[in-house]
This record gives sequence, C-alpha cells and structure tokens, in this order.
Amino acid sequence: MIIIILIPLFIIALIIKYLKRRKKVSIEGKHVVVTGGSSGIGKSVAILAAKKGAHVTIIARNIDKLSEAQEELKKYRVSEDQIINKVSVDVANYEDVENNLCEIEETVGPIFMLINCAGMAICGRVEDFTEQDIKTLIEVNFLGTLYPIKAIVPKFKQRREGIIVLTGSQVSLVGMYGYSVYSSSKFALRGLAESLIMEVKPYNISVTLALPPDTNTPGFENENKTKPKETHLLSNTAGLYNPEDVAKKLLDDSLMGHFFSFIGLESFILTTLCVGMSPFGSFVEVLVQCVALGPLRLIGAFYIMYFDKIIKKCFLEPVKKRTVIINSIVLFS
Ligand SMILES: NC(=O)c1ccc[n+]([C@@H]2O[C@H](COP(=O)([O-])OP(=O)(O)OC[C@H]3O[C@@H](n4cnc5c(N)ncnc54)[C@H](OP(=O)(O)O)[C@@H]3O)[C@@H](O)[C@H]2O)c1
Repeated sequence: MIIIILIPLFIIALIIKYLKRRKKVSIEGKHVVVTGGSSGIGKSVAILAAKKGAHVTIIARNIDKLSEAQEELKKYRVSEDQIINKVSVDVANYEDVENNLCEIEETVGPIFMLINCAGMAICGRVEDFTEQDIKTLIEVNFLGTLYPIKAIVPKFKQRREGIIVLTGSQVSLVGMYGYSVYSSSKFALRGLAESLIMEVKPYNISVTLALPPDTNTPGFENENKTKPKETHLLSNTAGLYNPEDVAKKLLDDSLMGHFFSFIGLESFILTTLCVGMSPFGSFVEVLVQCVALGPLRLIGAFYIMYFDKIIKKCFLEPVKKRTVIINSIVLFS
C-alpha cells in the first residue's frame, strides 16, 4: 500500500524537479581547489573539473602522489591555457592552509570553488581507539574541512560568489556499528554545513554537503582493514560505488546549488529520513518529504531491526570467531 502511494509520488516529483531544474553554474576558466585531490573521490572530482575547463589546484600531503595525479589531470585539459596546480599541505594545520590558499590565489587566480574531499576513516569499537587515532580523525575530517572554509569565506564574501563542498558520508546522518569516531567527525560536518549556508547565502555563496556511500577508492580499501566483522556485514547491505559516479554526482549537485548530494535509492531514503531542519531547494521537495517521512520511518525501523539482528548474531558467536583488533589491524580467525 505504502509503495503504491510512494512510487507515483516519487515519479511526479522527479518530473517536476526535472522541469524546474536549476541551471548548472559553469566552472570553465574558473579556479577550483580540491583538497584530497590526489586520490579516490577527490581525484575523480578534480579530473571532471579539468574536463570542464577549470584551472584546478589539488591539495594533499604526499608530494609523489600529488605529482602523479597532476600529470594524470593534465591529460584531461580541454585547453592548453588551463593550469593544473598541486600543493602539499596538511589540511589540519590552519596557518599552512591559509598561507597556501593566499599564495595560489596569486599564482593561479581567485578561487571560485572549494571542494573539501580530504578525509580518512579508521573503524573499530569505541574502546579500541587510541587517543591518537581519535585526534587524527577529528583533525583531518572536521578541522581539515573547517580550516580551508574559514580561510576562503572572507574572500568569497568580498567577491560575492563562490561554491563550497563538504564531503561527509552516509554516516554523517546515521550512526553505525564500528564508526563511532569517524561518524562523529562526519556528523560535525552537517552542523558546519547547515550553519555555514545561513551565513553565506546572502553573499551568493552556495554550500553542498556530499554524502557518499561506500566507494571503491584507496581510502576505502584502507578503511576495510580496520572494520569489525559487524561493520562489514552491515555495510554489505548497501553495495559499492565507483569514485567516478560519486564524483560526477557531487560536482553536478554542487554546480546546481543543491544542499545535499547523494547517489542511489538507499541514500535518497536515508537523506529524506534524516532531513530534519536542513535547507531545501524547492517546495516540491518539501512536499515529497512530508508525505514520504512517515512510511520511510517504518522502513528505517525494519533496517534497524535487521542491523540489530546481525549484531546480535555476531555477539552470540564464540569469541574466537569474532573480529580481533590488534594495533588497528583486523584479523579474522
Ligand atoms: N571511499 C568511501 O567509501 C567513502 C565513503 C563516504 C565518505 N568518504 C569520504 O570521501 C572523502 C574521500 O575519500 P576517499 O575514499 O576518496 O579517500 P582516499 O582515496 O584515501 O583519498 C584521500 C585524500 O585525502 C588526502 N588527505 C588525507 N589526509 C590529509 C591531510 N591531513 N591533509 C591533506 N590531505 C589529506 C589524501 O592524500 P595524502 O594522504 O597524501 O595527504 C588523499 O588525496 C573522505 O572525506 C572520506 O571520508 C569516502
């Protein structure tokens, strides 16, 4: 019954949304900065920006990886005049971030778009984390997003234009076994994005919070090494996306000025369910959410029961069959 009501409603909303879709902003000839641009989702976004004719600066720490990515990006330029620049900075160091952003504005040109993709995940049960792991996750994922934003916002406000992207995760909206610290650092980005958009909207600056699902990147491969068995089983319910698809959706949504960027039906359900007091793009969107929220809460409840069942099953397994975490390395016995 619920599905019968929801499907036509969803189709009508999609048609209206398509007809009333906002014009995409062009980044041709504009300066786009991508933190975390040497790998994974960030590198895919940087490639797409280069294909669209933007001057691109990629930021990361490892200079070899940066140089390799810079060469790869150059192949996608649509004009010889396009600058593909790299900067080695730790985004968790405010002074370095501010100085380098000032410098690249002078060498490459005024920054038009800041895409924060630098981030990392370490999984584990809350008691397994070292103090250093906790600090690293908060510093890289939260401060490493806040600092570039803090440094660039005054310039964007002065110029009365700019686009800011924050890369959260699906666990920016929902907690998940094994993600206690990572999820906290990504939840913080939602608070940041929702507050920030109120501050910058009058200045013609848009804010997008990207919520990627599991994406096949070097970072994801690394994350898998620390995932407890329960987390593996819970995440397997959603599937794995290509960084190219996630990057395309992220870039399209941010250039259209959407607040949330998500991909896939599961993410649509999750984002609608967790919409709360977040900004909206159109009244049609709000109407769909009003109708969908009740039934989706019911679907969500079934998911929670299913997750609880998986966790309980693992809990009841003999201890030696469960995941053992030794110095952040997961061994399945
Ligand atoms: N992959 C997924 O399944 C997934 C799902 C949801 C959300 N996300 C989020 O999406 C973003 C990209 O993830 P990914 O999987 O593409 O990761 P990735 O392949 O590991 O790439 C991470 C990038 O961030 C850079 N970086 C990390 N720490 C940094 C620091 N302190 N300062 C500057 N640069 C830093 C890395 O370069 P260096 O190490 O050289 O600095 C690299 O370029 C992250 O925020 C992640 O949390 C990913």
